[in-house]
Amino acid sequence: MFDYVNEVKKTRDRYNRLALLYDLDDVLWLGSKQYSRKKLIKETNLPDSGLVLDLTTGTGRNAGLLARWVKNGTVIGIDISRNVLKVNRFRNDRYKNLHRVQGMVQSLPFTDETFDAVFCTCGMDTIDRPEIAFSEAVRVVKKNGTISLLHLRSDKGPLDVCNFLSRFYAWVWRAEGADLLPHVQQHKVEIPVYKNLHIAEAIIARKTG
Ligand SMILES: C[S@@+](CC[C@H](N)C(=O)[O-])C[C@H]1O[C@@H](n2cnc3c(N)ncnc32)[C@H](O)[C@@H]1O
Repeated sequence: MFDYVNEVKKTRDRYNRLALLYDLDDVLWLGSKQYSRKKLIKETNLPDSGLVLDLTTGTGRNAGLLARWVKNGTVIGIDISRNVLKVNRFRNDRYKNLHRVQGMVQSLPFTDETFDAVFCTCGMDTIDRPEIAFSEAVRVVKKNGTISLLHLRSDKGPLDVCNFLSRFYAWVWRAEGADLLPHVQQHKVEIPVYKNLHIAEAIIARKTG
């Protein structure tokens, strides 16, 4: 087990307690998070088949979009919190190609090169040791498969409305933020998309080796 396992347990307990409140967060962001999730899927050029993994799937906002998009394939969502997965099931019950697994993204329960694509939206900024989760994503994705990330950055810059929302979010969810580009660049990937979105970053990486 990792030395940060107690932190992961605290994160799990927090999401178990607050599972029913999580979706209020999307209201607070006035739909911009859902818009950004859709854009990330589009820019990944995801085919409508294959096996897709949604890391930190939470209440399933991204997983539902993925399941609709990958209509001839299968989506697996993984999250540490049992209670958010229950909300996810309730929200996405109609998608029979979406499956949920309880587990820790820093130690994925899948064999190497299993998935055609991996997503993580609004998750890398919340989890402990996101760089380990990214390495795990690289391990489980197939060669030429994609890893698509969207998360708040830790460097929040000058105070404006977005920045205020980002700090509020960070305070409520203990989301530290993540600046993953330097870590992504250490792997055998090419990076067709990198967007510095002021308070957030979007990265699409393709595994090359
Ligand atoms: C901010 S929510 C994001 C949910 C979703 N991806 C979205 O786009 O709305 C973060 C999620 O990460 C999960 N999480 C935190 N640490 C985790 C870990 N180590 N392994 C798996 N899931 C984790 C939490 O339980 C929570 O559901």
